Amino acid sequence: MRLYRLHGPAGDDRLRLTEAPDPQPGPRDVLVRMGAVSLNYRDLMVFDGRYAHGGVPEGLVPCSDGAGEVIAVGDAVDRFVVGDRVAGLFMPRWLGGPYEERYGADALGGGRDGVLAEQVLFDQEALVAVPDHLSQPEAATLPCAALTAWNALFGGRPLLPGEDVLLQGTGGVSLFALAFAGMAGARTIMVTTRPEKRARALELGADEVIVLPESDDWPAAVRDLTAGRGVDHVVEVVGGSNVDGAVQATRNGGQVHLIGAQAKGGIDPTEVRRRNITMRGIYVGSRSQFLAMNRALAHFRSRPVIDRVFAFEAAPEAYRHLRSGAHVGKVVIELGRSAI
Ligand SMILES: NC(=O)c1ccc[n+]([C@@H]2O[C@H](COP(=O)([O-])OP(=O)(O)OC[C@H]3O[C@@H](n4cnc5c(N)ncnc54)[C@H](OP(=O)(O)O)[C@@H]3O)[C@@H](O)[C@H]2O)c1
Repeated sequence: MRLYRLHGPAGDDRLRLTEAPDPQPGPRDVLVRMGAVSLNYRDLMVFDGRYAHGGVPEGLVPCSDGAGEVIAVGDAVDRFVVGDRVAGLFMPRWLGGPYEERYGADALGGGRDGVLAEQVLFDQEALVAVPDHLSQPEAATLPCAALTAWNALFGGRPLLPGEDVLLQGTGGVSLFALAFAGMAGARTIMVTTRPEKRARALELGADEVIVLPESDDWPAAVRDLTAGRGVDHVVEVVGGSNVDGAVQATRNGGQVHLIGAQAKGGIDPTEVRRRNITMRGIYVGSRSQFLAMNRALAHFRSRPVIDRVFAFEAAPEAYRHLRSGAHVGKVVIELGRSAI
């Protein structure tokens, strides 16, 4: 089979297409022929050598998010049969309950080999069935971006109908959060750094859009849009000192879901304390949350927003497209696709 590996120091030619023997399933393993893989911002961090989890092994197979079809199962497998359509867990050992440090240590495409390959072996617990209405490229967007947004909005004190949610940017996590906020009957305010994305954000269902270069003070703009209160939830995908703005844009007693790792710097906790704001760290989510999310996606027949689909052979180009920041929604690599 063909697969990609990351070799050597960060550099444009680091992602190499190579070959390996077809994997053979052990007793509890499920062999999946990958139909599609989606990229996350985290894949750029891994590529660049700035992923926080102690670096990545030489020759790593990158990417956490993929979906495909079961083509073989081990003797002890009782969850799946050949022909099932499945997606892998970002953290193969986080099945439910609170997060434990060991789950993050072997996240796919970080601490251990990921899914940018024609065939991948999974432990049977590390897979979920994907909703019937989704294509494989659509299902491939779920394991990280969708589950992170789901965990943010429903994994703590859940979002309620009529509440206000602040979404930052038009990337993968934010557009799933937009869809989930719609399911919950919440009002959404989306902030984008790119004026050309305003129309698309409105078309996709954002109730209000703030364009950063046009706003001197975006937290004040958010407060103006909420009668001076601030929002109930912030899906904070930027991080660093940007969190200060998120706090200013949050109502007393509201929640800031800390997700992003795009910016550097710290914050002043004074307002967080004084205004009773809850800061919630989010690291993707568990298998049980993935199952709950899939039920919601199936019930609403909700479809991920896919920006662009690239052929397997064009994976380096897909990385470059994500890095450009021109995308709205998810960037996907489809196996078996003949051209870009
Ligand atoms: N903690 C976790 O478990 C977890 C899981 C998934 C992702 N993440 C993190 O969440 C972040 C987003 O990931 P992703 O995969 O959704 O990335 P993505 O698809 O590349 O989207 C990132 C988007 O962030 C927006 N952005 C950048 N700077 C901004 C700013 N100052 N204000 C508002 N928006 C800004 C941009 O949208 P516009 O072009 O519209 O401005 C950009 O497209 C990354 O830092 C990633 O590492 C964390």
